[in-house]
Amino acid sequence: DWTPQSFVEETVEAIQEKVGNDKVVLGLSGGVDSTVAAVLLNKAIGKNLYCIFVNNGLLRKNEFKNVLNQYEGMGLNVKGVDASDRFLEALKGIEDPEKKRKAIGNAFIEVFDDEAHKLEDVKWLAQGTIYPDVIESVSATGGPSATIKSHHNVGGLPDFMKLKIVEPLRAIFKDEVRRVGATLGIDPELLGRHPFPGPGLGIRILGDITAEKVRMLQEVDYIFINGLKEWGLYDKVWQAGAMLLPVNSVGVMGDERTYEKCVALRAVESTDGMTADWVNLPYAFLQKTSNEIINKVKGVNRVVYDISSKPPATIEWE
Ligand code: XMP
Repeated sequence: DWTPQSFVEETVEAIQEKVGNDKVVLGLSGGVDSTVAAVLLNKAIGKNLYCIFVNNGLLRKNEFKNVLNQYEGMGLNVKGVDASDRFLEALKGIEDPEKKRKAIGNAFIEVFDDEAHKLEDVKWLAQGTIYPDVIESVSATGGPSATIKSHHNVGGLPDFMKLKIVEPLRAIFKDEVRRVGATLGIDPELLGRHPFPGPGLGIRILGDITAEKVRMLQEVDYIFINGLKEWGLYDKVWQAGAMLLPVNSVGVMGDERTYEKCVALRAVESTDGMTADWVNLPYAFLQKTSNEIINKVKGVNRVVYDISSKPPATIEWE
């Protein structure tokens, strides 16, 4: 009989046996998998675990600061690395979705490799790989491990990829990861977070990416996600977010015509991300959210709601 308690006990022992007194490095993403993996490893080897949390500048509003604080509060040995400018620079002028993914993946590898080199004598790379990731090569749940896997063939193998691998969650599913996380005492709010793609807002800004567009979309996303929480809708939705469209349309403000950006809101229900249906959010919620976005976010004068299912549409727009 599988129980989260027995899984924790057995895995902690297995980790201790496997890595002994060696140092281990792990990339935290703010997502459920890498967090649970980190807490398990921390329980097993304590300060020999070195966590790195990279800000790629494409996270949700305040996410880097808040999640880093949360990690520190959990007693993890974590270093936050703000590399926003480096990612923005790497993305300059790129419009093609796959090229964006490559640029983001490569920048991540460079930053992570630089940081890993600063640690002496590290022998192991820990990853939050879960069973579905083992089957597909690209994680549907995002995070550094997915980024590394899908981009490790670019520009030769970075040094950290030559480390021995420890993947404590590779035999279990997402719902089991959540139960293990709960047993480990991880904040339920963290465990209940929606999936968020590794390339972050980078693939929700259609067309080229600028600091101003990131700021705009962070504000829109914040109003939408916060609203879902306030209305008790967040946990009923599998994933939600906003897309910044490369479209200007005419609006009116006072006596003035405006010509500004349009954003699309998307909320889906799903069990694994492979298929998805749009969520029938209450009209009153959509009405309030749309008004709030247009009133508060400078540069946005139109909001639409995405009513496409997957297939044939995808969850993300890029
Ligand atoms: P799509 O858009 O293909 O997305 O329906 C399915 C799930 O995968 C996530 N996603 C990604 N996750 N890197 C990731 O780590 C990516 O490049 C990526 N693209 C999509 C998406 O958010 C959804 O959960």
